[in-house]
Amino acid sequence: MLIRTPGVYRPQADTRLLAEAMSGAGIAPRSRVLDVCTGTGALAIEAARNHGASVTAVDISRTAVASARLNSRLRGLDIEFVRGDFRTALRDRTFDVVISNPPYVPCRDDGPPRGTARSWDAGIDGRSAIDALCALTPEILSETGILLMVHSALCGVEATLSGLRGAGLKASVVSRATIPFGPVMSGRSAWLLDRGLIEAGQSYEELVVIRADRSRR
Ligand SMILES: C[S@@+](CC[C@H](N)C(=O)[O-])C[C@H]1O[C@@H](n2cnc3c(N)ncnc32)[C@H](O)[C@@H]1O
Repeated sequence: MLIRTPGVYRPQADTRLLAEAMSGAGIAPRSRVLDVCTGTGALAIEAARNHGASVTAVDISRTAVASARLNSRLRGLDIEFVRGDFRTALRDRTFDVVISNPPYVPCRDDGPPRGTARSWDAGIDGRSAIDALCALTPEILSETGILLMVHSALCGVEATLSGLRGAGLKASVVSRATIPFGPVMSGRSAWLLDRGLIEAGQSYEELVVIRADRSRR
């Protein structure tokens, strides 16, 4: 049970898929883990509690950081929380493991999202946060570091893989799950169809977890 103030993202299928991928990633105890876009802190807590990691978590939303901090304290965990835009909040720091469930839903408005929509809206192609994280990853990963990121296949698996490979990392899809559209995707399915991102009658999307390694595996 996680405490969540109004507007903070409720952990769901994408959160769970990434948590499962963390279990398969062999995260060493005392690894320095960064949770990018932490929301309630669900994945940061998973990293600290089940992997014995030393965890830093960042989110742009004050209410998300307040919820995550409370959830961490209630479990007696010592997680560092940073409130800010991940693009700029973590300069000059490196981590052994970076995990992220970023916003990845395509939206009509290409401007910066506001309010609750900051949890999911990610520009016209759904890639604004994903592309920024791909570009940032080589700067924030330690020499043997890994990234685990979850997103919908709708916003382009190949684009993420090539963004990470272009940044000098080895990248592959390590897990997939097909889930029914939630209310946000259902509410914009006509627009997604117009844009050719889904097929007529489609009500499911595939989630992928992408792993990137700085060193060759
Ligand atoms: C899909 S939610 C994921 C929450 C949580 N990690 C989970 O899996 O349940 C995305 C989160 O990203 C945060 N966010 C959006 N843009 C951000 C940015 N530029 N920098 C940091 N956090 C951001 C939102 O506030 C939201 O909490």
